[in-house]
Amino acid sequence: MNKKSILITGGAGFIGSHVVRRFVTNYPDYLIVNADALTYAGNLENLKDVTNEANYAFEHVDICDENAITAIFEKYNIDGVIHLAAESHVDRSISDPMSFVKTNLLGTTNLLHIAKKQWAGNFEGKKFYHISTDEVFGSLEMDKGFFTEETAYDPRSPYSASKAGSDHMVRAFYHTYHLPCVISNCSNNYGPNHFPEKLIPLMINNILHNKPLPVYGKGENVRDWLHVKDHARAIDLIFHEGVPGETYNIGGHNEWKNIDLVFLLCDLVDEKLSKPLGESRKLITYVTDRAGHDLRYAIDASKIERTLGWTPDYTFEQGLSETVDWYLSNESWLKNVTSGAYLHYYSAQYGK
Ligand code: NAD
Ligand code: TYD
Repeated sequence: MNKKSILITGGAGFIGSHVVRRFVTNYPDYLIVNADALTYAGNLENLKDVTNEANYAFEHVDICDENAITAIFEKYNIDGVIHLAAESHVDRSISDPMSFVKTNLLGTTNLLHIAKKQWAGNFEGKKFYHISTDEVFGSLEMDKGFFTEETAYDPRSPYSASKAGSDHMVRAFYHTYHLPCVISNCSNNYGPNHFPEKLIPLMINNILHNKPLPVYGKGENVRDWLHVKDHARAIDLIFHEGVPGETYNIGGHNEWKNIDLVFLLCDLVDEKLSKPLGESRKLITYVTDRAGHDLRYAIDASKIERTLGWTPDYTFEQGLSETVDWYLSNESWLKNVTSGAYLHYYSAQYGK
């Protein structure tokens, strides 16, 4: 038996909820502590199927709060951290960069500082795993090259700059104090429970409500899409087998121009709802481009493939079709998050 107490930050968010579910289900001997501030992006409804499991605990906490995080380390005797909590939306970072600096940079540093203090130089069996993004590498030219683990950092949005800063701080704790840290940089995720301010769920939600589909600029920008469950599986593997001091790029070699992806989503929904093909495409509206919009992201995932044996399970065709099905059959989830009703889920669940 290998008992561990693992702190997962941001477990009520999109990717975090899939990671929490995977760990609670697959590792009954671990205690999984989900620490989340429940910002607009945190939704405990995402985890209603595991809330009552014996190896799951929830702590309503801001990762910037030194006393509260220290108390969690002491209460649960934390051995490992999987750090996902972040402000994650580029558009919000453009209008409110300070929230990104606070949570992504200061919050991450606070966690590192407390892990180092609590583990007091005895790092046997300990790990600090920081989840990051490929956006720290900047922007690629069309059809030219991929981000590798050696690509120089060149963040361009307040979001990616704050994540780059947090990655640097994680590396600094590894080199300076030998804190056993590992980092992964993943491409754009999609799948169930994705907050509908991001491209794929926003488009599905707007199609369902017959609202305009805002495509930034000419829709020529390229993103590399990976199913969230493939990311959660990679996180599991890296947490257990990733080498401290190393970083791993995660991606599915699945590049799409935004406009082609929006066409595909329109056609998928038309087909599933038996609407005339082409009906939803009429909702597409080209709008002013995002400021500083990165042209292209694309990941070279050969290191994680070669060293840890990870490759994606989902084809995009299957993953996207299942994702559309999920949104079609979970309209109440969509309604709750778009109306803000989900923000009351915590008090209903925990009576606070
Ligand atoms: P999300 O916005 O859906 O969820 C973020 C979670 O963090 C929410 O539950 C929120 O309540 C919580 N949180 C925010 N600020 C907090 C704070 N100060 N203290 C405690 N909790 C706080 O984000 P996501 O899309 O699930 O992304 C998770 C992580 O993965 C982030 O670190 C992000 O940078 C990284 N990432 C995301 C993608 C993607 O495509 N979504 C791709 C690569 C990497
Ligand atoms: P997004 O989902 O916000 O992820 P990121 O900016 O982190 O890659 O956006 C994905 C792409 O879709 C990005 O190029 C911006 C574009 N986009 C739109 O064209 N319209 C939208 O309404 C949104 C939210 C994004």
